[in-house]
Amino acid sequence: MHFRIMPGSWLILVLAVSSAAVLAHAATVEHTFNVATLCWPRISQPGDVSITAVDGVPGPVIEAYEGDTVVVHVINDSPHNVTIHWHGVIQRGTPWADGPEMVTQCPIRPGTRYTYRFNVSGQEGTLWWHAHASFLRATVHGALIIRPRAGAGAYPFPTPDGEAVVLLGEWWNDENAISSNVIADAYTINGKPGDLYAGETTANRSAKFEVTRNSTYLLRIINAALNTAFFFKVAGHTFTVVAADASYTTSYETDVIVIAPGQTVDALMAADASPGCYYMAISSYQSAFPPPPGGFNGNVTTSLVEYAGAAAPGGGQQAPALPDTPEPTDTDTANRFYTGLTALVRPGMPRVPLTVDTRMFVTVGLGLRYPPCEPTQTTPCQPIPVATMNNQSFVLPSAMSMLDARYRNTPDGVYTRDFPDRPPVEFDYTNRTEMVVGGSAAALLFPGMPATKVRKLEYNATVEMVLQNTALVGRESHPMHLHGFDFFVLAQGFGNYDDATGSQQFNLRNPQERNTIAVPTGGWAVIRFVADNPGMWFMHCHIDSHLSIGLGMVFEVEDGPTPDTKLPPPPADLPQC
Ligand SMILES: *[C@@H]1O[C@H](CO)[C@@H](O)[C@H](O)[C@H]1NC(C)=O
Ligand SMILES: *[C@@H]1O[C@H](CO)[C@@H](O)[C@H](O)[C@H]1NC(C)=O
Ligand SMILES: *[C@@H]1O[C@H](CO)[C@@H](O)[C@H](O)[C@H]1NC(C)=O
Ligand SMILES: *[C@@H]1O[C@H](CO)[C@@H](O)[C@H](O)[C@H]1NC(C)=O
Ligand SMILES: *[C@@H]1O[C@H](CO)[C@@H](O)[C@H](O)[C@H]1NC(C)=O
Ligand SMILES: *[C@@H]1O[C@H](CO)[C@@H](O)[C@H](O)[C@H]1NC(C)=O
Ligand SMILES: *[C@@H]1O[C@H](CO)[C@@H](O)[C@H](O)[C@H]1NC(C)=O
Ligand SMILES: *[C@@H]1O[C@H](CO)[C@@H](O)[C@H](O)[C@H]1NC(C)=O
Repeated sequence: MHFRIMPGSWLILVLAVSSAAVLAHAATVEHTFNVATLCWPRISQPGDVSITAVDGVPGPVIEAYEGDTVVVHVINDSPHNVTIHWHGVIQRGTPWADGPEMVTQCPIRPGTRYTYRFNVSGQEGTLWWHAHASFLRATVHGALIIRPRAGAGAYPFPTPDGEAVVLLGEWWNDENAISSNVIADAYTINGKPGDLYAGETTANRSAKFEVTRNSTYLLRIINAALNTAFFFKVAGHTFTVVAADASYTTSYETDVIVIAPGQTVDALMAADASPGCYYMAISSYQSAFPPPPGGFNGNVTTSLVEYAGAAAPGGGQQAPALPDTPEPTDTDTANRFYTGLTALVRPGMPRVPLTVDTRMFVTVGLGLRYPPCEPTQTTPCQPIPVATMNNQSFVLPSAMSMLDARYRNTPDGVYTRDFPDRPPVEFDYTNRTEMVVGGSAAALLFPGMPATKVRKLEYNATVEMVLQNTALVGRESHPMHLHGFDFFVLAQGFGNYDDATGSQQFNLRNPQERNTIAVPTGGWAVIRFVADNPGMWFMHCHIDSHLSIGLGMVFEVEDGPTPDTKLPPPPADLPQC
């Protein structure tokens, strides 16, 4: 509409934003998504590979105005079970449309279809959509943009001259390797790995953003990567962050943006450098300690920011300037960015609730399990990694979706309501020495078999949750995503959370609102939200290699007193198991 992305092509045009659009009535934005097997060029290697995608990588952009109804007909022409999650959409009154496989629906089976219908109300900014089944979101994803009802002129910041989606991803040359190899073959910006990747193909490797000097652009940055947080920079340019996770922030000036999987950042960038060509660059933020035994992909991925008229036809121009990228382990830079954001408080928007009904202290981290196995002389029985919250490792049910079980009031065999409010023992959560010498922590290192546990919440309860990272296997920043709600981030810090000192740091005036919090590595974060949205809402780590080994839990939010605060019946075409 206001800018264009041509999926699968190499040029991303940044076009002027019309501030004239003033819509009085909510409209319906309708799309048809064909999830299918596509032939797609490899990265850094010649030839094509088969991928599962909607038109390409990234897939189509959904553009809506606040209050619009979004209708997406998903036709599953792929050989996989599929669902689509509308990441960050609150889904008030439409819990069946949230999308996570076996939490709110059974999958859309191959050869079948399902239509998602929901409203985007009370939210503005950048969100996104992605598959929420198996590891399919690696290639099944795209942007979801919600503009103010009154048009771009109604942004609570100077109207930009143009906008662009900047979607960060990870790419595997072999789709079958995604579940087993956490290390991607490449990082991508709008599906392209950039100029710095070695490989046989040299053409068309970079996404390109064309800008006009002295114009200002709104970059809608989305981290769609499966497992990796990124540092984001543009040589010679700085940013003013204006929103994160589709909640406005006070203007935050920075030359580096840090973004964890699942998060979005909206940032203004003024094209105020001398006309030329500059690299936009992403590099990974590696928060794990000890470092992952398999190493990590330390490559820098680039795209081009090109000033109109600056590119000499036929080449010959200077190599674009490359920004300095932070060290992969630069937690100081990550922490400065993550803690630097505050909310733009506006009339009519929710404020932090000051009284708390339900307090939870939840450890998040990795553990180990000995699988059933017979050690032999040649192959000793090796522990496998698992992930836990409060010593519970989560697994999806298989017979019925959790929301369906709640609706029918038949949780037996699907889930139990015993997700604990505290870990079974208190210990020195973040002290590695303590783990190695095997103190009180040893018991938590070995959780039991995975189970499907929920925490039931009374309608309208105010929930405060301390998320405490553990160093049992290794400390690491876990991006915890909550479905169905935005939450306030009251404080974050390093080490073990101590209520006496931690609560002194709470920002109760203008805390940032998010749907995904990167809990600091070896540290903690405190979030608060009001459980005013009846349904079954997944909370999980947005690193897929952790989600798949159990880093999640579900909130079961009870019905409210009024007809519009009761769980509605499922849509007639909801897929059955
Ligand atoms: C680069 O992309 C353009 C636009 O999609 C296409 O026309 C052209 O053939 C591509 N060039 C190469 C060398 O692949
Ligand atoms: C969207 O909002 C409109 C107007 O409030 C309402 O009539 C409609 O039922 C809503 N649609 C959904 C899917 O909730
Ligand atoms: C990119 O990363 C991969 C995986 O770590 C590595 O094998 C490859 O050599 C890197 N490519 C470049 C151009 O650095
Ligand atoms: C951009 O702004 C600078 C400083 O105000 C001015 O000198 C220059 O002429 C402007 N360039 C364009 C292309 O408008
Ligand atoms: C970590 O634990 C070890 C062993 O119990 C102890 O000696 C050390 O003082 C602890 N470190 C910190 C920073 O608490
Ligand atoms: C953690 O869970 C497992 C399995 O239920 C249990 O055996 C273990 O004792 C638990 N740890 C603690 C400290 O309670
Ligand atoms: C929900 O909580 C808010 C704030 O505490 C209160 O104003 C409102 O009346 C409550 N609604 C219901 C239905 O309990
Ligand atoms: C696909 O979903 C159906 C229905 O839930 C289930 O029976 C089947 O096992 C699933 N297939 C795979 C490959 O997961």
